[in-house]
Amino acid sequence: MTQVIAVANHKGGCGKTTTVINLAAEFARSGLNVLVVDMDPQANASLHLGKKHPSEVPITCAELLLSEVEKLPAAIYEDNHIPGVGLIYGSLQLGKAEDELKDDTPRPSEELRQKLAPLMGLYDVILIDCPPSLKLLTSNALAASTHVIIPIESGSQYGMYGMTDLLRHVNRIRRINPQLELLGALLVKHDERQTVCRLIEAAAREQIGKLLPIRIPTSTRVNQAAMAQTSLHSLDRSAKVTREFRALAQLLAQQLQLRATSQLEEDVEINGEES
Ligand SMILES: Nc1ncnc2c1ncn2[C@@H]1O[C@H](COP(=O)(O)OP(=O)(O)O)[C@@H](O)[C@H]1O
Ligand SMILES: [Mg+2]
Repeated sequence: MTQVIAVANHKGGCGKTTTVINLAAEFARSGLNVLVVDMDPQANASLHLGKKHPSEVPITCAELLLSEVEKLPAAIYEDNHIPGVGLIYGSLQLGKAEDELKDDTPRPSEELRQKLAPLMGLYDVILIDCPPSLKLLTSNALAASTHVIIPIESGSQYGMYGMTDLLRHVNRIRRINPQLELLGALLVKHDERQTVCRLIEAAAREQIGKLLPIRIPTSTRVNQAAMAQTSLHSLDRSAKVTREFRALAQLLAQQLQLRATSQLEEDVEINGEES
């Protein structure tokens, strides 16, 4: 069974793309077959992961959404900057695709699910990076997913702003995708010592009900890894932020019964000894 995890929050800058990239890298390192699907017109995940510029890629998520399923093989790029992570690019064209879906398709939220259907069973895990909106692209991502993670910027007093809309949207998508399961909120840029972080944590626990037990700290390594087009693991495997993403990948691999977890477990032990 392929597990499909959407990383969604219509608030920009809360850590969606960073979560997708580093979870993908950790899953791939443990020997899992991983695909990233970039549904954001800003294509940040593609810019990080891909060896091509999104504007030069003939078949991105945009073309895939609007075309027949035959285009799928040509949309998948396996040779990317992070070894073992496949990519379906995002591009600016996704904005246009979103408008066309709305006008021309009988079930506009279900196109991605249909287009990815042939991949079920071929990958262990597919991670979908969502755009910062609650419109059709996010609906398509949620309708195609088995699970959703909601990153929340806990260092921002506005981190929970709009959360009721997002939860309502997830519930609405369950009408067409009843199996969609909320894995939980993921607190990003979290610092226990800051009052704002503790307040956001309490609000997230109350409003969302489900918090992942991992906290991602603020780290300059995150931007450095993006600039170097690499994973946190390759940049600095012993940084706290790297260890937290590794722990998150390990937790999800166990919870979702993804195949290979041995490498991840080994690393956590090694790091335990080091610190
Ligand atoms: N844990 C972190 N520590 C420091 N900076 C971070 C962290 N997570 C994300 N960032 C930075 O914050 C910005 C937004 O993160 P990103 O993952 O692109 O969010 P989104 O995809 O939700 O818009 C980026 O510049 C990213 O490098
Ligand atoms: Mg993003």
